[in-house]
Amino acid sequence: MHIFRKDLEQKKPVNVNVPHKKVMMCLNESTLNPFKTLRREFLANLEKVELNRYYQPVTDELKAELTEYVGHGLKTENIFFGNGADEMIYYIFVAVREHSNSFAVSPAPSYFDYKSYSGAVGLDIKFLSLDAEFDFDEAEYMKLLEEDNCKLGILCNPNNPTGNTFDAEKLHRIISGTSKPIMMDETYFEFSGITFADYLDKYPNLLIVRSFSKAFSGAGLRFGYMLSSAYNIEQIRKVQTVFNSSLLIQTMVLTMLQNRDVMLAHTDMVVKERDQLLKAMQEIDEVKVYPSYTNFLTFSLGVNSDSFFNYLQDNEIAIRDVGAHPVLKECLRVTIGSKEQNSMFLKHLKGFVKGL
Ligand SMILES: Cc1ncc(COP(=O)(O)O)c(C=O)c1O
Repeated sequence: MHIFRKDLEQKKPVNVNVPHKKVMMCLNESTLNPFKTLRREFLANLEKVELNRYYQPVTDELKAELTEYVGHGLKTENIFFGNGADEMIYYIFVAVREHSNSFAVSPAPSYFDYKSYSGAVGLDIKFLSLDAEFDFDEAEYMKLLEEDNCKLGILCNPNNPTGNTFDAEKLHRIISGTSKPIMMDETYFEFSGITFADYLDKYPNLLIVRSFSKAFSGAGLRFGYMLSSAYNIEQIRKVQTVFNSSLLIQTMVLTMLQNRDVMLAHTDMVVKERDQLLKAMQEIDEVKVYPSYTNFLTFSLGVNSDSFFNYLQDNEIAIRDVGAHPVLKECLRVTIGSKEQNSMFLKHLKGFVKGL
């Protein structure tokens, strides 16, 4: 007997399937702990907040500070925030789904959890495979997008787990060529410096999703936001839970934004480290590594990828196997860590390759 929706029987509960090792280079997290970095400033801000209240002025302060950080002439009514980019994605899915035949379209492989959340709200996803250059067929994408039951176009830019950005002109053509909503996932924006936020005025169907988990080092904090027209934000707010963002988190995020030089200096370091590691990996004949606009590198050792993955595990380093999709067959993904971690990873890679 079903007491819940029948289709839930076919689904699996959310499960982050990664090994837990001493050195975690598998979930595109940061090595900087924001609380340790900004403890004094955070506690000083927290003194002013009454956690016994639902609403506190910190919410307005944060909206103002975040709006200033985002720039591009946007106003507080163009911004909505909550529990990670994930919650923003979830709300968009809830808001676009019309009926059980509704679907979204996305290039693949892309962010794994689009599928989890669309499934949760009963929205199907049709995936369009990337080619060997990690590009997708624009005409095919538009064809799916323009089908009656298609309710949303997803574009992850830069894309996880391939690390590339798509051609900007192509993205402009897609967004302007449809009246369907387009969700642009800019979770890795700060590592690429590429954004469509400047075009929100021009494109009433564009919703941009961003995260504090990557460049702002706050994966465990859970904070993300959405940028769109005031009208779209108002519609999305009709599906939110009322107090969807904890005052504790808001206070921490406010502190991070007030001290963004410190937080983003770390991101600059990650970008430099990424480019150095990329160069070093490109010099190893046995390794195929892809350029990246994110905080990770996707690479392959061909048939030896599997044993390298296990070899790293034996050495207490966890990276991610992203080889499930045929386009990334035998591919692995390593998150850029601290200088020491990156050197250790490279040392192990060179050692492993020597032994082949
Ligand atoms: C492309 C993409 N979107 C969204 C997310 C979720 O971000 P958050 O931690 O802010 O929920 C991730 C996390 O890895 C991601 O890679």
